[in-house]
Amino acid sequence: MNVLVNIISLPTKIKNLFIGEQSAVYLDNVIESKKVEGAPFVKWVGGKSRVVGTILKIVSKHINLNEIEHYIEPFVGGGAMFFYLANHYRFKSYTIIDINLDLINTYRAIKQNPITLVKEMDKIQNKYNNFFNLEDKELFYYEIRDKYNKYDKEKLYEYIDFTRAAQFIFLNKSGFNGLYRVNKTGDYNVPFGKKEVIKIYNDKNILKVYEILQKTNIVHGDYRVSLDYLLKNTFVYFDPPYRPITNTSSFTAYDNNGFNDNDQIALAQFCIQLYIQGIHFALSNSDPHNTNPLDNFFDELYRDFIIYRINTSRQIAAESKSRGRVTEILVIG
Ligand SMILES: C[S@@+](CC[C@H](N)C(=O)[O-])C[C@H]1O[C@@H](n2cnc3c(N)ncnc32)[C@H](O)[C@@H]1O
Repeated sequence: MNVLVNIISLPTKIKNLFIGEQSAVYLDNVIESKKVEGAPFVKWVGGKSRVVGTILKIVSKHINLNEIEHYIEPFVGGGAMFFYLANHYRFKSYTIIDINLDLINTYRAIKQNPITLVKEMDKIQNKYNNFFNLEDKELFYYEIRDKYNKYDKEKLYEYIDFTRAAQFIFLNKSGFNGLYRVNKTGDYNVPFGKKEVIKIYNDKNILKVYEILQKTNIVHGDYRVSLDYLLKNTFVYFDPPYRPITNTSSFTAYDNNGFNDNDQIALAQFCIQLYIQGIHFALSNSDPHNTNPLDNFFDELYRDFIIYRINTSRQIAAESKSRGRVTEILVIG
């Protein structure tokens, strides 16, 4: 990307951040921005921000991360683990993969031209914030949501759509609970979040994310494409859609996020394949023991590996039998 060509028409605040080495005038700002760590730019269901530290403490007992050269995260979502590692370790390469094409379009937009994306985000954010009444903000939200859902996604296979990426972040930040959720037909269906004022991005974070993404392969597709990126000394972290917690130990044939027990089994076989090839991995999932101590689904699937149960800060749903802290499983291979 030719940074200088693109920064000319930007607000100074953003301009300063992207000039970098090309200009000594802005050096102070650049140094200041170095203190910022890249962090997820969207709130994601199942986001790992709160447990990254605990997971890595355990992982480092078994895997020497200083010897790792390549990192792959095949279910990247908001990328809490990816960003943490990219901030703290200097691996030679990073590969992030997700089946959600809009999410991938947004990562690619930041990597290719964060300034264009920032301009698009400013447009949409300013328009929202300038409405005087919450009713008008609500109308605007649903107008964008409609547009977003009527879009022909095929286009995203051909090019990066910056307007769409801005809408994606806008919907994530102004929808109810700040989350991203689609229904079975792929329509984004989160209701209005009733926020008076929104701030949908942090300019320093976008810069840092941009820097991190320069050494990152951003791949759209199924987790299995990670095979194409495996090299010696690769560490793979899997955080697939969680197996729904149920009160029975019965096999879950269907679930609403499109990842059922058969998929969990196939994933376990995939992990075994990696391990046989000498690749280290870690995998997170929900712990069936939270609701049914007899449900040993993952204990059986990953019986050849070490399984940890880690505390999360989530509370278990009120109607469930066992109250208290929810645990998650962490498999180390
Ligand atoms: C639990 S989330 C990951 C959350 C992430 N660790 C974070 O910190 O935000 C699971 C992700 O897997 C993606 N996904 C679902 N099925 C997939 C598949 N077959 N291959 C690759 N990604 C998939 C979803 O789009 C979602 O982003």
